[in-house]
Amino acid sequence: MKKLVSAEIVSVQLLNQNYLLLTVDTGQAVKVFAGQFATLQIPDVFLRRPFSIHDAQGTRLTFLIKIVGGGTQKLANLSVGQKISVIYPLGKGFAVSKKQAVLVGGGCGSAPLLLLAKQLGGRPLVILGGRTKDDITQRDAFAQYAQVKITTEDGSLGTKGFVTAELPNLSPDCVVYACGPEPLLRSLHRLAQEKKFELQLSLEAVMACGLGACLGCVVKTRATGHLCVCQDGPVFRAEDLPW
Ligand SMILES: Cc1cc2nc3c(=O)[nH]c(=O)nc-3n(C[C@H](O)[C@H](O)[C@H](O)COP(=O)(O)OP(=O)(O)OC[C@H]3O[C@@H](n4cnc5c(N)ncnc54)[C@H](O)[C@@H]3O)c2cc1C
Ligand code: FES
Repeated sequence: MKKLVSAEIVSVQLLNQNYLLLTVDTGQAVKVFAGQFATLQIPDVFLRRPFSIHDAQGTRLTFLIKIVGGGTQKLANLSVGQKISVIYPLGKGFAVSKKQAVLVGGGCGSAPLLLLAKQLGGRPLVILGGRTKDDITQRDAFAQYAQVKITTEDGSLGTKGFVTAELPNLSPDCVVYACGPEPLLRSLHRLAQEKKFELQLSLEAVMACGLGACLGCVVKTRATGHLCVCQDGPVFRAEDLPW
């Protein structure tokens, strides 16, 4: 059941010049499934901005945020004790499977995967990829719940190349959960068609309402026509996407 709350900022931690970790106290503990997101009403920004729930502990939610524009910059400038309006949990998260799990996150696409690694248990393999080492921000947090492999395109951390360089041999007994830039998701989609493993993809779309009302975030799907990323996703089964 989604909630609209006035949440108190309890921590704003700049991880580097491009990323921040924002924790808010919502005042109430609500069950959150990994892959679900929240929308934040940033002061003096017209539309709410969507962010994956990176971690949920008791009444607290944490977001891993890449600073890309005016709204995210304003989030970085918030102070502890300020209040912010949050609607959560939104959308459908990952469908947890008993298959051997591999989690793949590109840049801030790693955000929903921490909660997923916690909820899956059993220390799954997490592959974190980025353009440079600055995109790999939560390695230690992931290492508490998962085996972590790192790739960077410039070789500044981990293996040089794309996340696909660290993928293990994938079979129909495996499930890959992925979030990140569309080229990454599309390359996993092609691989899943070839190797027949299960693939769940968390998509991004520009969102206005985040509630299924404005149809600003529709994607085309195979069986059911157009669906809203905000309400029917953001996680979709790869075979449902006509890529
Ligand atoms: C379901 C969902 C979950 C998300 N989770 C996270 C997350 O955990 N961490 C995170 O850092 N970001 C996440 N995003 C993206 C985040 O919402 C945007 O980066 C943010 O809204 C940008 O706000 P802004 O005002 O700073 O940028 P704007 O000034 O609005 O835009 C700056 C630039 O970012 C681009 N942009 C804006 N919104 C999006 C978007 N939704 N997708 C792709 N590009 C966008 C714009 O085209 C523009 O080039 C998520 C998006 C969705 C839809
Ligand atoms: S953002 Fe309005 S319908 Fe999805």
